[in-house]
Amino acid sequence: MHLGVGDVHARLPISGPVIRLTVAEKGGFLATRSRAAMPNVTVEGEKTFPVEPGKKLVLAIEDAGIDIMHRCGGNARCTTCRVQVVSGEPAPMGDLERERLARESSLGPDIRLSCQIRVESDLTVRVLNRASAVGVTPGPRPAD
Ligand code: FES
Repeated sequence: MHLGVGDVHARLPISGPVIRLTVAEKGGFLATRSRAAMPNVTVEGEKTFPVEPGKKLVLAIEDAGIDIMHRCGGNARCTTCRVQVVSGEPAPMGDLERERLARESSLGPDIRLSCQIRVESDLTVRVLNRASAVGVTPGPRPAD
């Protein structure tokens, strides 16, 4: 492969920093790194905020000061952290999330467990369960 003089941009891995390679006049590369733009999460009726790529959605929401339940501590057991995805494309469900939501026949396909989603791109969601609404604590903080 021949590259002309100029810049080549690559992102390795998908959620990692942008690697900028500059093809020098006499051959070889100069490599520099820059941070990828952070995705934005919008919680309907609340606010929009940037999120470090790869952060769990439930933690991003809570750390933004928004009331959200997570009664099982992020273990895909309770479903209290569920959100409705209004727009955006979260990563596909893993086995734990798919199997747990399959037991909830009344939930639509746009309902996801925020403790099982790692934010990689812009998302707009609706928080469905708030601790303050039912007078309980949110639950143990899910692990990073
Ligand atoms: S399923 Fe319990 S916190 Fe997500």
